[in-house]
Amino acid sequence: MEQALARLEQLKENISEEINKAASKNALVEVRNMHLSKKAEINNMMALIKNFSGADKARFGQAINDIRQSLNELYDNRMRVFLDDEVSVKLASEQIDISLPGINYQAGGTNPVFLVRDEILDIFISMGYEVKEGRDVETDHYNFELMNIPKNHPSRDMQDSFYISENLLLRTHTSPAQARAMEEKKGEMVKVVCPGKCYRRDNDDMTHSHQFGQIEGLLVGKDINLAHLKATLDLFIKKMFGPKREIRLVSSYFPFTEPSVEVQVSCAECGGKGCPTCKDTGYIEILGAGMVHPNVLKMSGYDPNIYSGFAFGIGIERVAMLRYKVDDIRRFYQNDVRFLKQFVRK
Ligand code: FA5
Repeated sequence: MEQALARLEQLKENISEEINKAASKNALVEVRNMHLSKKAEINNMMALIKNFSGADKARFGQAINDIRQSLNELYDNRMRVFLDDEVSVKLASEQIDISLPGINYQAGGTNPVFLVRDEILDIFISMGYEVKEGRDVETDHYNFELMNIPKNHPSRDMQDSFYISENLLLRTHTSPAQARAMEEKKGEMVKVVCPGKCYRRDNDDMTHSHQFGQIEGLLVGKDINLAHLKATLDLFIKKMFGPKREIRLVSSYFPFTEPSVEVQVSCAECGGKGCPTCKDTGYIEILGAGMVHPNVLKMSGYDPNIYSGFAFGIGIERVAMLRYKVDDIRRFYQNDVRFLKQFVRK
């Protein structure tokens, strides 16, 4: 027994010395493999335990465990020194120069079409209008039928369309939002503006795009007349383009309004005298409008003998073009940063 304990002490001393002397991480791992692995002498000595009796078994077992534990701790501490050294070397060699200028990421901005959309909406919100968005994919029923454009009506040709199925299409105007708003209000007064995208199989040119934005306006109540429409749009134009701008209503045709008008605004270039921009007319067309057709009111559950209303549809890009003097509608969609960064939200 005493001989075995002495051997253990000797092993502890020798192995401790080897651990302390190990000059590198790899050398240290070798010491561990040699002396602390399962097959190492210190573990094999466990087999001697069967030769001892009673209290000696426990004493010897305890002695082996204590020695193993202290050698493992010594190994861990030595290994930590090597690992810490490695980190220090890495930190010293990979120093970051915090005085170098960073990478400059350019912040994006809002497309001018959306800036103008928000400006228009703000003006109508200040007049007490509620904002309601319609749906990009509409049924034939809402896009045409409820707007008093029955099947085979020639005015369908004015809005050549993208059909998804026989009765489903990308809406050609925001006017179906009128029917949805009236349906929701169920006979109560309606005062809404409905912004959104519209789609037509128009050929893209300087003033047309196959996808564009509109804002629909609808006011339905009692004793609403054309003077209310004119006053509302006059206020809108003055807030949008300045107090000097005048509007005029020119007779027009839409199946869903009667009478229908085209709203023209005095030309900013010449002040109404006539110039190339306004094709010598002094005015520029900006939107379509009119008094809601009695059939439209009836189909959406409003008695035209009691209720009347006006509606208008503003082309957002057209307003943006006038507002910012942009010569070609396609510039809004081409993502040319030089163009886009000229517009900032006020
Ligand atoms: C309509 O779409 C009617 N729904 C507007 C309306 C609503 C009239 C309520 C009466 C009552 P129009 O097709 O004219 O009408 O279009 C209205 C505006 O949308 C135009 O004045 C123009 O500014 C814009 N617009 C129409 N087609 C295009 C296009 N292809 N590209 C860009 N803007 C367009």
